[in-house]
Amino acid sequence: MPKITEPKVKKTPKSSMSKSLGLLRGFKDILPADQSYWRFIQEAAESFYRGYGFAKIDPPILEEASLFVRSIGKQTDIVEKEMFSFADQGQGLVVLRPEATASIARAYINHGMINLPQPVKLFYWGPMFRRERPQSGRQRQFHQFGFEILGDPNPVIDAQIIGIVASFFQQIGLDQISIQVNSIGCPTCRKVYLQELVTYYRSKRKSLCEDCKKRLTKNPLRLLDCKNQSCQLVRTEAPQIVDWLDEECKNHFMKVVGYLDELNIAYILNPYLVRGLDYYTRTVFEVWPKEIKEGAQSALCGGGRYDGLIEMLGGRPTPAAGVAIGIERVITQLRAQEVEIPNYSQAEIFLAQIGDQAKVKALQLFEQLRRGNIRVAENFAKDSLKAQLELANKIGVRYALILGQKEVMDGTILIRDMESGVQEIIDFNKTVNELKKKLANGNSN
Ligand code: HAM
Repeated sequence: MPKITEPKVKKTPKSSMSKSLGLLRGFKDILPADQSYWRFIQEAAESFYRGYGFAKIDPPILEEASLFVRSIGKQTDIVEKEMFSFADQGQGLVVLRPEATASIARAYINHGMINLPQPVKLFYWGPMFRRERPQSGRQRQFHQFGFEILGDPNPVIDAQIIGIVASFFQQIGLDQISIQVNSIGCPTCRKVYLQELVTYYRSKRKSLCEDCKKRLTKNPLRLLDCKNQSCQLVRTEAPQIVDWLDEECKNHFMKVVGYLDELNIAYILNPYLVRGLDYYTRTVFEVWPKEIKEGAQSALCGGGRYDGLIEMLGGRPTPAAGVAIGIERVITQLRAQEVEIPNYSQAEIFLAQIGDQAKVKALQLFEQLRRGNIRVAENFAKDSLKAQLELANKIGVRYALILGQKEVMDGTILIRDMESGVQEIIDFNKTVNELKKKLANGNSN
């Protein structure tokens, strides 16, 4: 008989066994305390996509790497160094999506959406992944929601999308923002502009940072985006793309800003705004908080027109435009601008009980209150009334219901106003209705 030997398992050193496990760099838990902000934004976003006639789409989180290489561009930071990618057996290289516009364009082609009435208006919400250097406002997993309008070249679409985000930020109470707008033309006029830009920057090569020296050959448009002080000085004299737009691109841009003026949407023309993804044509824009913290990444959203993307991915030529809003950054701004948001999880009442019989009745009553959409806090494991009322106070409920031996016998229950301390005896069977009335009165005060 062959000798059976135990497989050799490397022993984990004691020290690392006891070490608690942490989060991966750039990844965060969304804690219960944050959930009110998430729900607040989600409810606003959902009312917007429905109100503006968008249909929701949920593309998968994992996609073929080539989708993003072809769309975002080989020479961009995202594709060059920021994709979480791995080889999947039989499926080649796959990535956790760094953004969703490319997936939307793929879905538009895959599902023959060109046959639907145009334009097709799609909304999405979900996590994105970029292996960037984490810093304030920049995570490796972050969340976006986005609006994409596919199938129409009209500049009114660009203005409408900018209008949607302006109105969104206004509705959620973020008014300290600025909308930055630019046009980066079409591939034809941009080509001529880029030659001019490179000639200018070459003449200033000595003053450029190492990254910009590489950008001269790899991605010259991004020269305008550099945060290095010396490069920003060079930029002040650089040729501006608006002066190089061809007739059609110029007209398109004039119309976009014309609509924004008509709609009274305040914006700043920013000749240096170029965006970090290669698929854009003509209009590009971002929304920034008015006060930008030193060193923090702060664009709240970014978008623009991408007329060549669907064709680049193998579809028929289809103009399109869209925007994606960064949820974590919006939450940071809501906090910074001290915007009051509803506290959805706040319990409205506390259900206290004393004695075994009362406990059983309280458990049943809890179920009725929950079905009546009343948010109830409790601690059925506690017996002391004092301890339960202290907890009710801590939670900050408006009313406490108290159910003791006597109330069980009488078929009644006590309602205690936690602010005034006044207590009232009511019929047990009328608890839900009485509470609803009291809460409605309280809320309208
Ligand atoms: P983006 O500018 O790369 O555009 O991202 C949009 C927004 O997502 C940013 O303005 C920011 O709020 C948020 N964001 C991006 N990266 C991070 C990060 N590492 N950490 C936290 N938040 C981040 C796009 O993704 C395009 N797909 C937008 C678009 C839609 N263009 C046309 N349609």
